[in-house]
Amino acid sequence: MNKISQLISLLGGTGAVAEKLKIKPSAISNWKKLNKIPSNKRKDVLELGSYLNINIEHFLPTQKLHNFKFKILLIISGGIASYKSLEIIRLIKKTDIELDVVMTKSAQKFITPLLVTSLNEKKCYIDLFSIEDETKMNHINLARSPDIILVAPATANIMAKLANGLADDLASTILLASFSKIILAPSMNPVMWNNLATRDNYKKLLERGIEFIEPDTGDMACGESGKGRFPEPRAIFEFILSYMRENQKLSNQFQDISIIITAGPTIEAIDPIRFVSNKSSGKQGFEIASELTKRGAKVTLITGPVNIPFPNCENVIKVKTAQEMLDNVTQQLPADILICCAAVADWRLIPKTSTNNKIDTNNKIKKTKEKLLFEAIKNPDILETIAKSKLRPKIVIGFSAETSNIKNNSYSKLISKNVDLIIANDVSNNKVFGEDFNKVFLIYKNNYEQWEKQSKKSVAYHLVNRINDLLINYNKRAVNA
Ligand SMILES: Cc1cc2nc3c(=O)[nH]c(=O)nc-3n(C[C@H](O)[C@H](O)[C@H](O)COP(=O)(O)O)c2cc1C
Repeated sequence: MNKISQLISLLGGTGAVAEKLKIKPSAISNWKKLNKIPSNKRKDVLELGSYLNINIEHFLPTQKLHNFKFKILLIISGGIASYKSLEIIRLIKKTDIELDVVMTKSAQKFITPLLVTSLNEKKCYIDLFSIEDETKMNHINLARSPDIILVAPATANIMAKLANGLADDLASTILLASFSKIILAPSMNPVMWNNLATRDNYKKLLERGIEFIEPDTGDMACGESGKGRFPEPRAIFEFILSYMRENQKLSNQFQDISIIITAGPTIEAIDPIRFVSNKSSGKQGFEIASELTKRGAKVTLITGPVNIPFPNCENVIKVKTAQEMLDNVTQQLPADILICCAAVADWRLIPKTSTNNKIDTNNKIKKTKEKLLFEAIKNPDILETIAKSKLRPKIVIGFSAETSNIKNNSYSKLISKNVDLIIANDVSNNKVFGEDFNKVFLIYKNNYEQWEKQSKKSVAYHLVNRINDLLINYNKRAVNA
């Protein structure tokens, strides 16, 4: 009897397995004949084994993920389920994913770093103030290098620390210093889970784009029952694998596509120390640049002066004025896509005296008894100039900051400037600029969408999906033309 036939008989025989998996018995007979389970059924079979409480892993070949060069940082915090993270380590070790592990002090009350080190065959990190590790700023390296930071189990405490920006140990400092995708697998007593403080923290984290593997409902180790049980380690592992697969699929979505993104404010000098500008932080444009880079695009980011770290894209050009921004966008053409996210100053101000005396703007303007007047000179409209130029990219997208009549104003801009999509936001009452969240409208020629308030990272992710749709439609039209 071959391995798969043995496995099927262990699970109750062909008929029972077919019934449980809702597939034809002939399909199961085929698996037995070929001594192979199709990869899309592997998960169902493993779940059936776990449901029947039979360990069947050794019947199935280990998963080799040769295409992935993924790096995971697993943070184990201190809950009753900490020991289950050992199974996650074991499952990850069966793949070619690179794994580092950090443990909190409380986690070390439940399992030892030595056990984790020997399972992972690699040093387990436990100390923020380690002289040995910190010679190379290890907490920053650990924060920056992984594709995913998985916190499993995640205690109520570590959720609260992350939600409120506390960084008082290695794990919480890494979480705060990271750009990586953070996935939390919480596990705690149901009263702790339902506590309003934990609910608030959960909501805050979700809004910031942090992902959750929800706890299961059932009997707890503490004798109570409800929501809060740590999910099966295999379910967590499968979640991570599907996240990685999705990422891999997306990683070449924009291969060979050149994209120019403008971001941040522009500043228009009045004299060497005074200027006109606006409150744009650059965050939304940087998130879009980062998401498109992850999906394989060749991104040139042209940014005004900002105080945030640059994303890891192909080319970053720093500019100050609207004219410099336009000149640099023009130099980068031709490109497939232009996304004008920068808040370009609409005017520059030329100082004059009331008697029209000439003012030396190369030096600091001195106070005089005469009234100082400013002539507002219109800056170039980068979006419109490029959208109406001979080198117009295939797709041109603009951002529009409005304080009233958002939809109508944005639609007028879309039409008059010859743009494919306008992302409009309401900036009245100091909303949006500098914030981590954004609430946007997407205005197309024939329809519009209104999105829920979400993190700028999340807006970037969903927006890039829409840009992909626009590109597919453009290519279809080009083929049919
Ligand atoms: C026996 C025991 C079991 C615990 N289990 C959990 C748990 O499952 N989930 C949780 O959030 N906290 C649990 N705690 C409380 C945490 O250990 C405590 O909040 C600690 O400060 C968490 O620290 P950390 O988040 O830095 O790992 C438990 C405490 C003890 C003593």
